[in-house]
Amino acid sequence: MAKLPILIYPSPVIRKKSLKVTSINGELQRLIDDMMETMYAAPGVGLAAPQVGALRQVIVVDPHDERKLTKPMALINPELVAADGHIVEEEGCLCIPDLREGVPRFKRVVVKAYDRNEKEVVLEASDLLARILQHEIDHLNGVLFIDRLSPAKRQLVKRRLKKTGKVSS
Ligand code: CO
Repeated sequence: MAKLPILIYPSPVIRKKSLKVTSINGELQRLIDDMMETMYAAPGVGLAAPQVGALRQVIVVDPHDERKLTKPMALINPELVAADGHIVEEEGCLCIPDLREGVPRFKRVVVKAYDRNEKEVVLEASDLLARILQHEIDHLNGVLFIDRLSPAKRQLVKRRLKKTGKVSS
């Protein structure tokens, strides 16, 4: 396993759409192992492949549930198939260091995906895990959490990122 460098906003790569995985082969298994190691080292509760420069529909999540009800998992070609409820909670992203903002998300989601053993999984999640899943699936479409803020709030945040020298344009 190897820890991979995480791309930092405004990298153009994290704005691209990721491609569907067509074969869960050895190379993909290695990518998943490396993504897990990178997520734990950060440390983070989720990571999407484009964040480490791999434009593939792969995410890893580990909500660090103290009761150990949720195990770390890798999801391949994840799809939001149902969602309801509405909740605003603070969120951050490994690609945008030192920024946390309240982001509106669905409270509950159902996600369909493949696991690393090529088994189809249907995952029902709420609260933190639901939020992580929505955040990471957004990454596969080139969407960042700052895009989910109100237009006024987004302007403020972009100005702040520019001021701290994290944005060149
Ligand atoms: Co993120």
